[in-house]
Amino acid sequence: MPETLSEAREQGFRTDIVSFVRRSGRLNPRQQRAWDDHAEQFVLDVPRAVARTSVDPGFVLDVAATFGRSAPLVVEIGSGLGEAVVHAAEAAPERDFLAVEVYTPGLAQTVLRATQRGLTNLRLLQANAAEVLATALPEGSVDELWVFFPDPWHKARHHKRRLVTPELAELAARAIRPGGTWRLATDWSEYADRMLEVVGANPSFENAHGAGAVAPRFEGRVLTSFENKGHAAGRVITDLEFRRL
Ligand SMILES: C[S@@+](CC[C@H](N)C(=O)[O-])C[C@H]1O[C@@H](n2cnc3c(N)ncnc32)[C@H](O)[C@@H]1O
Repeated sequence: MPETLSEAREQGFRTDIVSFVRRSGRLNPRQQRAWDDHAEQFVLDVPRAVARTSVDPGFVLDVAATFGRSAPLVVEIGSGLGEAVVHAAEAAPERDFLAVEVYTPGLAQTVLRATQRGLTNLRLLQANAAEVLATALPEGSVDELWVFFPDPWHKARHHKRRLVTPELAELAARAIRPGGTWRLATDWSEYADRMLEVVGANPSFENAHGAGAVAPRFEGRVLTSFENKGHAAGRVITDLEFRRL
């Protein structure tokens, strides 16, 4: 293990605070088979900077070439096992979907689901979402940005790891086209309040349901196992919807 920050950087470790931790990347046999046979078809190969989940800041994705057409683009960050994005991509073949996730088994499960449905309008990117929004996506290229059930990091001393911050809102404003939409959902009510505050304070966004208001449940989101767990634990699910001005 590195002992100093510069050693860490040299050895390919991150030295910045991110919203995820390194987890075991072990795949089950079905995920492994899907990954071996189909990752190339779905998972984008991008140049990296320091860590395996980074993106070289000089890289910009050619969205039309990636999907082989020009269509409205939906980006889900923290797509987990891919339940929501695969369901949505199947339901809306006229739109293109990019799932951004750092967790390899989640991506492999998403590949497995996508091959079972023969999807052609879905691609996956294994990368830190902040870097994807900051540089990898062209400015104003995203029609809808989705963040569903980001890790709540509920202990106060871990709040700095939360994905939805004023800095992320700034990056989202760069990536979403004017008139585009940012949807969020969480089962952690204090995080929902914080999201309302953070995105509401960004002058590039307007709350689609009035300042400080929550949105009705987004019908385009299939009920995921994560959401079900929230329900089972008696937690209230909050949806939010913002419009990029
Ligand atoms: C609590 S899970 C929710 C997954 C999924 N959205 C759902 O509703 O089932 C949060 C996911 O976000 C991913 N994640 C956290 N920070 C991320 C980041 N900076 N970039 C990409 N993915 C991230 C985690 O790996 C994890 O899979």
